[in-house]
Amino acid sequence: MGIESESVSFFNLSMFFFFILILLPPQYHCSQVYNITPLQPSAQGDTLVSPSSIFELGFFSPNGSASKYVGIWHKNISPRKVVWVANREKPIAVTGSLASLRISSNGSLELVDGKHNSLWSTTDVTSEVSSSNTSSVAALLLDSGNFIVKDDAWEDGAMWQSFDYPGDTLLPNQPIRYNTKAKKGNILTSWKSESDPSTGIYTVEGGRATEVPAQVIIWINRSTPFWRSGPWDKSKFIGLPDMDDRYLSGFTVEENVEQGTQDFSYELFDTLATYGDISSQGNFKFMYAQNGRNWSFHFETLKNPCEIYGACGPFGVYNSSESPICKCLKGFVPSSDQEWRKGNWTMGCVRQTNLFCERQTDKKSFSLQGKQGYSDDGFWKMTGAKVPDYHQYITSLNTDDINGCMIQCLNNCSCLAYALVNNIGCLVWSKDLIDIVGFSQGGVDLYIRLSRKQLGSIPTSRDIIQEYIGKHDPSELLIYDFDTMLTATDNFSITNKLGQGGFGPVYKGILQDGKEIAVKRLSSSSGQGIEEFKNEMLLISNLQHKNLVRMMGCCIKEDEKLLVYEFMPNKSLDTFLFDPTRRGELDWDRRFNIIQGVARGLLYLHHDSYLKVIHRDLKVSNILLDEKMKPKISDFGLARIVEGTQCIENTQKVVGTRGYMSPEYALGGIFSEKSDDYSFRVLELEIISGKKNNNFFLYEQQLGFLAHAWNLWYEGKGLELVDEVLGDSYSSSEVLKCVHIGLLCVQDNAADRPTMKDIALMLSSEKDGTQPKRPEFTMQNSFSHPQPQNEHTNSPINEATITVIEGR
Ligand SMILES: *[C@@H]1O[C@H](CO)[C@@H](O)[C@H](O)[C@H]1NC(C)=O
Ligand SMILES: *[C@@H]1O[C@H](CO)[C@@H](O)[C@H](O)[C@H]1NC(C)=O
Ligand SMILES: *[C@@H]1O[C@H](CO)[C@@H](O)[C@H](O)[C@H]1NC(C)=O
Ligand SMILES: *[C@@H]1O[C@H](CO)[C@@H](O)[C@H](O)[C@H]1NC(C)=O
Ligand SMILES: *[C@@H]1O[C@H](CO)[C@@H](O)[C@H](O)[C@H]1NC(C)=O
Ligand SMILES: *[C@@H]1O[C@H](CO)[C@@H](O)[C@H](O)[C@H]1NC(C)=O
Ligand SMILES: *[C@@H]1O[C@H](CO)[C@@H](O)[C@H](O)[C@H]1NC(C)=O
Ligand SMILES: *[C@@H]1O[C@H](CO)[C@@H](O)[C@H](O)[C@H]1NC(C)=O
Ligand SMILES: *[C@@H]1O[C@H](CO)[C@@H](O)[C@H](O)[C@H]1NC(C)=O
Ligand SMILES: *[C@@H]1O[C@H](CO)[C@@H](O)[C@H](O)[C@H]1NC(C)=O
Repeated sequence: MGIESESVSFFNLSMFFFFILILLPPQYHCSQVYNITPLQPSAQGDTLVSPSSIFELGFFSPNGSASKYVGIWHKNISPRKVVWVANREKPIAVTGSLASLRISSNGSLELVDGKHNSLWSTTDVTSEVSSSNTSSVAALLLDSGNFIVKDDAWEDGAMWQSFDYPGDTLLPNQPIRYNTKAKKGNILTSWKSESDPSTGIYTVEGGRATEVPAQVIIWINRSTPFWRSGPWDKSKFIGLPDMDDRYLSGFTVEENVEQGTQDFSYELFDTLATYGDISSQGNFKFMYAQNGRNWSFHFETLKNPCEIYGACGPFGVYNSSESPICKCLKGFVPSSDQEWRKGNWTMGCVRQTNLFCERQTDKKSFSLQGKQGYSDDGFWKMTGAKVPDYHQYITSLNTDDINGCMIQCLNNCSCLAYALVNNIGCLVWSKDLIDIVGFSQGGVDLYIRLSRKQLGSIPTSRDIIQEYIGKHDPSELLIYDFDTMLTATDNFSITNKLGQGGFGPVYKGILQDGKEIAVKRLSSSSGQGIEEFKNEMLLISNLQHKNLVRMMGCCIKEDEKLLVYEFMPNKSLDTFLFDPTRRGELDWDRRFNIIQGVARGLLYLHHDSYLKVIHRDLKVSNILLDEKMKPKISDFGLARIVEGTQCIENTQKVVGTRGYMSPEYALGGIFSEKSDDYSFRVLELEIISGKKNNNFFLYEQQLGFLAHAWNLWYEGKGLELVDEVLGDSYSSSEVLKCVHIGLLCVQDNAADRPTMKDIALMLSSEKDGTQPKRPEFTMQNSFSHPQPQNEHTNSPINEATITVIEGR
């Protein structure tokens, strides 16, 4: 009995047949089916479409393969990304044509080929589907991409759903469920290759069954770890320091204590289509797209092919910014020098000097007399770490009890390390420390147990500075005495406060010789800002240009960390530009000089300094003005340093200030000098107009400033942008040139934007450049989503300064 006759007879009986999809030669015209009911079966060649036409289910062949499969993809996004495959293990043979997907007599969903061979059925995976009366059973594709089989007679909704049986792809609201009490489904499994959907070797699933807090692990053959997220700290994974808050990262982990499950899911914005998939090479990659557009990259776990689980072996530390990428922890040496030098790091490192507690015959607990000279064990603090694998969670301690955590570890000789993690609390480790990663920003403080002998003497403040600025010679920096700073700033009095910088308040000070200084103080209360401090110090002490603010020195005393700068009497550009009374003091010549000065400063950062520096937070409040109103770029806070390693650092943390962020950066975390150029041009348009481009993401029906500028330009009314306080006293050719360059630099596609070199050339010559393309991203009204209000309004934290250095 052929499929068709079978189905027809079922249909005639109005009984068992509910829908059929038939694989046909391509010349058949295909139509879409939205609703499949018992009385309205689908015609041959139909595809099944979700109610709002978001997803589509049908037959497909993967690239490079002739085999046919039943799969689901986004209907209006091209190129097609198959997000789920029914018969991934058993393709439909090309010959033999007619295959169909149908609901069988017992209510299960079944895919059979032309010869009635069952290729796939929901009974392969669950026994729940067994209804004696199938007339109310139907299969539907939901707008979430979930393909369900349901029986209206049932009250519990779906009898079977594809979301419980993911392939290699995770859709929004589809959790990876772990803490595997019930060892059921809900893990991602890679394809064998891009042209073969059958089960590959990589899976994405939870950590080990009882692990709290949870982590996500990518496994090879479900037995060998390949990549590890590190524990979830309730807002991000410790091993992914680039993850921002949930809003930008898109990840959530939800715990269901009763069921003993933890659900991991990903959704960027609900207005965007997103997915995460595990590639056949083990890379877990996240993409997003607007309807009708191509997929764009958001995030991936394997930024770097070297960055795999345990790459540096036990007690080794992986740091993609260092060369070589593997180092031993302090107090440890390579277990095989020879292999280590060859770059074979997997054997890891061994302890140089035994722990004191290991040498004790009776391992009684130790009192906490951690005074100098006391021959106990101690801890060496590693900042910016991805914690090692196999954490144990000490739930009995308060989450802020750092001393309790230390004592807990010290009192047990098996304890090799501890960490007090924000939002989690005390974690300790007693297995060999494996898969530690050192980050350039983010990460946590990890305390490694060492014999006190190895902890060495208390470092001097110059040692600390040396450590801070790494390999660079600090001899040119003045080191100020803390008491001098107190005197100079009137004990950091409120009246001396100039403002809030990227990582702390800035005070005016007067040295004994009468020289005026600006002192930036890293707030000692919070652990944050150390990286910014260090990077600003490293950067600014190595960069010298008349359009960059100059650092004179620094001061470190215990928790106090200060940076000392030359004082800028005219404060920052925004104090003029956005002040209705002072705006007029900025005549066109001053504005044009500021634009050119900032351009020169950027040109130096991008091209002429020996380090390639990307500022990442260029905005009017970071442009300081000296007594002659010459601009100086300031606030080089959160630096990332990439120095001559073959493994390229590519952190995805999106930092900076909205309104100045380029589309590819805000959405994808992709940052280059062109993103600085984008910010520069926003700034430039602001300087010309005296108006703030305060929100780069647009609200519905509100055309943003950039869009407004573009429209004016397009209509040949570019001069209307000019700040009205300037009256007619400006050079229209200079203004038009600036507007033109400004619009060239806010084009969506970074490749279309001119470099700082091009810009400098255009500014100083008659060269016109090309016609700018319409900035779709900026103009796009449909692309609106709620703003996290606290992120960039009122809060001085928004003034954070972010910088990237790339080695030359
Ligand atoms: C499929 O293969 C073709 C040719 O090999 C290529 O141009 C296309 O980009 C591929 N599509 C996808 C989605 O990989
Ligand atoms: C339901 O029918 C399908 C196809 O006819 C068969 O493979 C499966 O074993 C049946 N399931 C049960 C529970 O009887
Ligand atoms: C199956 O259910 C439908 C309505 O849900 C009902 O009309 C029909 O009589 C039932 N058939 C059997 C065999 O129970
Ligand atoms: C995974 O399994 C495949 C097939 O059994 C095998 O070839 C491969 O070596 C395994 N890889 C690892 C890392 O265990
Ligand atoms: C879609 O984007 C991918 C990268 O995300 C790119 O490789 C591909 O060429 C793009 N395809 C089209 C049709 O634009
Ligand atoms: C790395 O070193 C280990 C131990 O000496 C050895 O077994 C292994 O073969 C080495 N791997 C390579 C790629 O040389
Ligand atoms: C020390 O730590 C190990 C590993 O966590 C644990 O098994 C052991 O019970 C601990 N000993 C004491 C005395 O707490
Ligand atoms: C990783 O390397 C960078 C560059 O040397 C350094 O700044 C950073 O502190 C390192 N991270 C750790 C945790 O050591
Ligand atoms: C600063 O504080 C110290 C001690 O608190 C005090 O002795 C000193 O007079 C203060 N100096 C000023 C300028 O207020
Ligand atoms: C800038 O500062 C200098 C020195 O304090 C001052 O003389 C000048 O008036 C200031 N310029 C403006 C426009 O306020």
